[in-house]
Amino acid sequence: MKASILIKQSPLSLSDTLILLEHITNIDKNTIYLHQKDIDVDFEAFNKIAINVLRGMPIQYVLKKWWFFGEEFFVKPPVLIPRPETELLVEYAINMVKDFKIGFEPFVGSGIISIILLKHIKHLKMIATDINKEACKLTLENAKLHNVENRLLVLCSDIGNALDSSNIDFIVANPPYIPTDKLKTLDKSVLDYEDIKALDGKEDGLFFYKSLKTLNIKPMILEIGHDQEKSMRELFDNVDVIYDYQNHPRIAILK
Ligand SMILES: C[S@@+](CC[C@H](N)C(=O)[O-])C[C@H]1O[C@@H](n2cnc3c(N)ncnc32)[C@H](O)[C@@H]1O
Repeated sequence: MKASILIKQSPLSLSDTLILLEHITNIDKNTIYLHQKDIDVDFEAFNKIAINVLRGMPIQYVLKKWWFFGEEFFVKPPVLIPRPETELLVEYAINMVKDFKIGFEPFVGSGIISIILLKHIKHLKMIATDINKEACKLTLENAKLHNVENRLLVLCSDIGNALDSSNIDFIVANPPYIPTDKLKTLDKSVLDYEDIKALDGKEDGLFFYKSLKTLNIKPMILEIGHDQEKSMRELFDNVDVIYDYQNHPRIAILK
């Protein structure tokens, strides 16, 4: 079937249709869009994966991979899918930590933050932790994919467990920060497929920032919720808040 006919008939959004077509044909989605009348696609193969998207599964889980900071990563339910907001955190972190030797990333999830830092800073080593065993496994798989596994130590552990912090130069993290009572307002696909513990910042959304405070390591570069600037300034003494491209507070830098 010609791609142009499939694109016209697809019940998915144009963007999801093109992403799936790119996946099954290995042809760049922009090329497919521009030359759709000349490109033949396998209708059956498209249908087989499109059905999962129609059933509500996030397209990232359907593809089993996603892009973050221009790089491809494995993704796997229920480990949190990389969010574009987190790219800003990484952008700041790369510049801030380039002269350090050892960093700590609690709440590592799929490993995206540590792995990008390790790819950009060749002398850096990272220690990363997560309570979720699937997340720890996925981080290791992604570290191998990007050839940085020799500089990344992954420990499957609760943030509340003791950690020898004597050699750690900085912390970078995207902790769960959504207050528990707001979780029910999230998209159904998030609630159905992603680990809710990855987002649950407990009663006031600040539980994990408070645990990080007790570690007493600086600098800390933290992703925050768009409504958490005031709370961060109350919780920590010396904080810079960076706004994202939509002009929302997004990163807290504790010095
Ligand atoms: C917001 S996700 C961040 C994942 C990844 N760093 C990213 O930016 O995509 C938070 C992570 O914290 C982990 N987590 C939740 N509670 C935890 C706890 N008590 N101790 C350690 N990790 C925890 C979750 O498993 C999840 O992977």
